[in-house]
Amino acid sequence: MCGIVGYIGKKDTTRFLLDGLKELEYRGYDSTGMALLNNNKIDVFKALGKLTNLVNKISNASLEQYPIGIGHTRWATHGKPTELNAHPHLGEYSYVVHNGIIENYKEIKEELQAQGVKFLSQTDTEVIVHLFESFYNKSNDSKKAFENTIEKLKGAFSILLISKADPEKIFFFKNGSPLIIAKGNDEGEVMFASSDAPLIGFAQDVVYLEDGVGGIASASNIEFLSDNYTWSTLPTSKQFAQKDGFRFFMEKEIYEQSDVVSDCMLGRIQDESINFDEINPNLIEGIKEIKLCACGTSYHAGLTSSYLFERLSKIKCNVEIASEFRYKEPLLTKDTLFIVISQSGETADTLEALKMAKNAGLKSLVICNVDNSSMTRLADYTILTRAGIEKGVASTKAFSTQTVVLWMLSLYFAKINGSISNEKLQSELKALREVPKTLIVEDKIHEKCRRLSKRYLHGHGFFFIGRDVFFPLALEGALKLKEISYLHAEGYPAGEMKHGPIALADPELFTIALMPQNLLYDKIKSNVEELSARDSTICAISPLDFDLSDDFIKTQETEHYMLEFFEMLVVLQLLSMEISIRLGNDVDMPRNLAKSVTVE
Ligand code: F6R
Repeated sequence: MCGIVGYIGKKDTTRFLLDGLKELEYRGYDSTGMALLNNNKIDVFKALGKLTNLVNKISNASLEQYPIGIGHTRWATHGKPTELNAHPHLGEYSYVVHNGIIENYKEIKEELQAQGVKFLSQTDTEVIVHLFESFYNKSNDSKKAFENTIEKLKGAFSILLISKADPEKIFFFKNGSPLIIAKGNDEGEVMFASSDAPLIGFAQDVVYLEDGVGGIASASNIEFLSDNYTWSTLPTSKQFAQKDGFRFFMEKEIYEQSDVVSDCMLGRIQDESINFDEINPNLIEGIKEIKLCACGTSYHAGLTSSYLFERLSKIKCNVEIASEFRYKEPLLTKDTLFIVISQSGETADTLEALKMAKNAGLKSLVICNVDNSSMTRLADYTILTRAGIEKGVASTKAFSTQTVVLWMLSLYFAKINGSISNEKLQSELKALREVPKTLIVEDKIHEKCRRLSKRYLHGHGFFFIGRDVFFPLALEGALKLKEISYLHAEGYPAGEMKHGPIALADPELFTIALMPQNLLYDKIKSNVEELSARDSTICAISPLDFDLSDDFIKTQETEHYMLEFFEMLVVLQLLSMEISIRLGNDVDMPRNLAKSVTVE
């Protein structure tokens, strides 16, 4: 996702910002920019695409020594990736860089426009700088104007703001997205970054800002606007910093799920309904069927949502594996909405399936994590999952955000279709809002998975079983284990075991049973009992105690099966990762696999 850097001091500010942005490249971005301040002059450079485009622009300009600068890499959320939408955003005399999403930007924009303020970009960010200036114009007090601005903003906003009104300062605030302030090693140096990597080697004392903490920094002073901050010491290894202290990118990405799912829902879950700015409400006019198409983990997200589209939106739904779909000579009719799901937006089979649907004249939508990818350029509509770049080859946060988008979409269609009562819609929204909390990794659960992992390093196979949406989750659990542990695992609908696979049951067959409290508990319980009676080793994951299990991972009691779904997802991801670690495998780059499969 987006990255921020900032600098006050005597070094070459431009160089520091460029090097810092380079360190943040791995997070993914589609444009870059920086604003450099020297007394009463601000120079700004922006470029679409890679950082080298910004470097080229800057190297053609005549630069001065700037004591202050702010820089940004942008991952488009509101407004397309264009140079105009790249940060920093300009008011009359100030610039801002921002990570996150301003939820109430439309109201603020309308108020400011009514006062005659002109907007240049399509972003939510631009309101921040105009708001600051509108307060400053009234009070002539930059600190008060900044505080008033912060008070007015809702949503996630980590920001750096510079202004000719107070040209020796950087105004900073953190809410939602990460932001660090550092005292540089040289006298009078202050630095900012959205993760440690740009600061390593240049600073030791840092504050990892908490939500709701901000302040005003100059070469001589750092003033915090509240007391809840603590100075700590920066790590010294860059590799370690990129992984935020986690052992593997996969682990970091499992832990990030709570935050990225919050980003994914921002502005989309409103007080009483779901809103997608990026699609047209008449998208399902005349639509009698939804066809979802994807590969691997993305296919599992699609399969999960097929239960939700039928249950909630009351639209007939089927799901196809893209490589199968391509050659089956599918019957495509124009009353079908074609939805492809892809983390990368580049998977060859899924892309080809999308082309086939487009050629047949179907309306198309892609749920994707990478803007400007081949699929987002081709589909009629795009919903971005906002998971940030996913580095671990085994997909984790892409799946949770895809599933959340698809769940929200099923409710969006349900409302349009009138197939859901208001009471039911409100209870679904309540559950959705709780997903980020459910995805927080509890130490106790991680430790339990770590301890259990040592018992599952052998055997002749694993069966992950579940019913309803817990069947695709079982498929996903089995895929994760296969990918990174190289152990044989299958996901199976629990009710199907007695139609064949139960013949395999013996103590060396490990059954991972997904036993949610809120969905078909008694049914899955009898399926697991059947396996236990045949001596399969059972690891049950459930909020309800289950006497017949050999191992048991206790999840929270909640009111909605989808919350159980997300909690169990984290357990499955952690369990496979811990097994893989014990086996000494390369967790982030498992053998034979590539992150983006652009060949058939
Ligand atoms: C598994 C995994 C793969 C991908 C699949 C599709 O962890 O990552 O199964 O889900 O290759 O990739 P995308 O979603 O990029 O189309």
